[in-house]
Amino acid sequence: MAVEGNRSLFRVQVIHGPNLNMLGRREPAVYGTQTLASIDAMLADEAKQGGAILSSFQSNSEGALVDCIQATFGEQDGILINPGAYTHTSVAIRDAIAAVGLPTVEVHLSNIHKREAFRHHSYIAAVAVGQICGFGADSYRLGLYALVQHLKSL
Ligand code: DQA
Repeated sequence: MAVEGNRSLFRVQVIHGPNLNMLGRREPAVYGTQTLASIDAMLADEAKQGGAILSSFQSNSEGALVDCIQATFGEQDGILINPGAYTHTSVAIRDAIAAVGLPTVEVHLSNIHKREAFRHHSYIAAVAVGQICGFGADSYRLGLYALVQHLKSL
């Protein structure tokens, strides 16, 4: 936890998985028209009011995402992650989250449970505090709120 004046601030690592760098142009009917930069800007705004300091990272590579998760150890208080397609495939990302042991909230723009069957299972859900999906870019906002509330309760 960081301190600014006499206010406690939770340090949150925001992680965006593969293809999320293409938001805005990628299947807008499914994922909306907001770019990743605008989602990060909205989250930074939200964090200022909500008592969090954010670092944001995006990669298309599973190993780079694992490295980012490992680097949170001792440096961050929580993780907000949209693992993209790796949600449905990655034991490595799940294990990295379990290894660092930080409270983690999983978010998705789309409602993965309403979509193709292969998207219904998340390897991440079992190591997350909770999952928020289906609210477009608002999933991130709601996820950050839920994560900060959870961190305050510890
Ligand atoms: C996603 C859902 C995943 O199934 C998909 O592979 C993505 C985006 C979402 O935010 O809705 O890349 O995580």
